[in-house]
Amino acid sequence: MAKGKTKTVFFCKECGYESAKWMGQCPGCREWNTFVEEPVVRNAAGKETVRAVKAQPVRLSEVSASSEERTETGIGEFDRVLGGGIVTGSLILVGGDPGIGKSTLLLQMCQKLADRGKKILYVSGEESVRQIKMRADRLGDFEQELFLLSETDLDVVVETVGRMKPDVVVIDSIQTMYREEIGSAPGSVGQVRETTGALMRVAKELAVSVFVVGHVTKEGVVAGPRVLEHMVDTVLYFEGDGSASYRFLRGVKNRFGSTNEVGVFEMRGCGLVEVTNPSEYMLQGKPENEPGSIVACSMEGTRPILVEVQALVCQTNFNMPRRTAAGTDYNRVNLLMAVIEKRLGLRMGDCDAYINVAGGMRISEPALDLGIVAALLSSYRNQALDSSTICFGEVGLVGEVRAVPMAEQRVAEAAKLGFKRCLLPQVNKRQLEIPAALTGNLQLVGIDTIHELLGVF
Ligand code: TYD
Ligand code: MG
Repeated sequence: MAKGKTKTVFFCKECGYESAKWMGQCPGCREWNTFVEEPVVRNAAGKETVRAVKAQPVRLSEVSASSEERTETGIGEFDRVLGGGIVTGSLILVGGDPGIGKSTLLLQMCQKLADRGKKILYVSGEESVRQIKMRADRLGDFEQELFLLSETDLDVVVETVGRMKPDVVVIDSIQTMYREEIGSAPGSVGQVRETTGALMRVAKELAVSVFVVGHVTKEGVVAGPRVLEHMVDTVLYFEGDGSASYRFLRGVKNRFGSTNEVGVFEMRGCGLVEVTNPSEYMLQGKPENEPGSIVACSMEGTRPILVEVQALVCQTNFNMPRRTAAGTDYNRVNLLMAVIEKRLGLRMGDCDAYINVAGGMRISEPALDLGIVAALLSSYRNQALDSSTICFGEVGLVGEVRAVPMAEQRVAEAAKLGFKRCLLPQVNKRQLEIPAALTGNLQLVGIDTIHELLGVF
């Protein structure tokens, strides 16, 4: 067993792929130059695994359904992404860029939980207890049952959790935690995996819900949260445009609920504030009747969100036209421009094109296609679409406009926000079962091909 101690292995710090030799490109995630060499201690990990297997098999019919108990965090947008609250005994990873607001969000959650009498342990390996207190002071009053621990040794943390038996534990961040048996530095793939594994066992054995913060790292030897995704129950990413104050909490994986929900927050001086009507927020400051500006509707989980799609198309001064897409898929924009060129005969190939989804949100839903095409056409022809029009629909390679799911919800959202005209796939319009009272004076215009778009300006 002792000879295992000196062995080293190469890990991809993006996805955790393990290999005996160094490789330039990771076969797992196809990233370049991500391999780092780390010592491994097989015997320590092996012993742990054997010890963990002591549970007895149980008949499915004998398992009580109440084993999936949920506690609401008290932050509606957070609960939405978690699928209705924190499942007792689950391990939740909250990833995001440094400085995006992960610590703030979790401290606010602790505040709400402590208010309702839950016992909370907040472990920080990054900030001293005083620094956490200073942050907490900005966020308002805190109840008694919130305990702080400034510690990076995971064994101390595990021992404290065992002694204190809190309801919820927050580990901020996993990259600062270490276990002595693992030879490598804190933040390395080996450490991050081992400490997460230990926290997983604590969560399951003591029925404590554990939140783990993971920084997304662009370079350096620190392992990113993707390394852990497969180990934990739930993965949430906190994202946003650095310049905008909106923050989006997105579910990427959830063993206890749907994954594609999004929670919307705004970062203010007194912490994060929930945005319960994101469409209104996303459309704030939208220009009226300007060429290249179109309102589109995207579904984020079960909620429709209206966004402004902006396009700027102009003659290129380069050999190769410049194209950028902020907030949506670059390749999709290129594809849609090719469809416009071929099907409508417009010379998009000579044009630079810049696409932006305003508000800092990232949307990859195909229902945004019609909005992108309309914005490109509007800018190319320098003709505005009136600002009371909204559109959604998927565009296919022959220029056909295809049906999208949940058309009712999208139409209802458009009507609620006072839009007058809605361009939608003809197929959707035909199948739409929506009471007249809901649509109000919203005029529905069914579109079969992008040819028909030329007639709506
Ligand atoms: P933080 O939660 O420390 O980010 P992370 O843990 O993801 O690294 O958030 C830091 C940023 O949030 C920092 O730039 C300051 C800002 N902030 C506010 O704007 N208002 C506040 O009330 C707080 C606490 C932070
Ligand atoms: Mg932090």
